[in-house]
Amino acid sequence: MDFTLKIWRQKNAKAKGNFETYKMDNVSPKMAFLEMLDALNKKLIEEDKDPVAFDHDCREGICGACSLVINGIAHGPKDRVTTCQLHMRTFKDGDQIDIEPWRAEPFPVVKDLIVERAAFDRIIQSGGFISVPTGTAPEAHAVPVPKVDADAAFEAAACIGCGACVAACPNGSAALFLGAKITHLGLLPQGQPERDKRALAMINQHDVEGFGGCTQIGECTAVCPKGIGMEVISRYHREVLSALMHHKA
Ligand code: SF4
Ligand code: FES
Repeated sequence: MDFTLKIWRQKNAKAKGNFETYKMDNVSPKMAFLEMLDALNKKLIEEDKDPVAFDHDCREGICGACSLVINGIAHGPKDRVTTCQLHMRTFKDGDQIDIEPWRAEPFPVVKDLIVERAAFDRIIQSGGFISVPTGTAPEAHAVPVPKVDADAAFEAAACIGCGACVAACPNGSAALFLGAKITHLGLLPQGQPERDKRALAMINQHDVEGFGGCTQIGECTAVCPKGIGMEVISRYHREVLSALMHHKA
């Protein structure tokens, strides 16, 4: 398969950046998208040119490091798939493929396709944890959690912190990420002691970092590779409201 790639190149955070065009011929349809970029980089290095910087780690959809906007869609055109799980067979022979970094103010571009996502780490540091000593793994059923809560917590815990939700949101909101973390911990017994504090601290840090407010557009859930649903956003709104009421009382 032959492709024309239009890739965002930007030397550093301060540089202006622009799209550059590269031709990739004889690409196997079995190739993963990031393998195709590896092949491009090999070619660029052989030509003594600067390879394209992009983020990746596990390459199996679990770490959240990969982060490309492909043809205008965060993580590309396939539903519930991270960039690293995308294959070239998804595209048509002869296609032009536009490749850009996440674009959101709190995620500044470091180089080319790599953005800084430390803002997410700071949100987690503000409250996305438990500090009760839980010891070793309890015996099954020793901590009774209703099945419906356990399932919802598990689904929310699937969030890999990739930031696609922010990249897709016209408001640059991290509400889906925030909702996933608050839901995950707020539904479990271990998460109860810090529940109110957590919700307020995390939403505050979200705003401090410069993420926008949620207006329920839903672009976030459409691109989320883990299928996190917008109900987590309603849940975090309820958590914040109840924390404020407890605070008042
Ligand atoms: S909610 Fe989905 S899109 Fe947002 S950070 Fe988590 S996994 Fe990524
Ligand atoms: S590289 Fe880990 S999720 Fe894509």
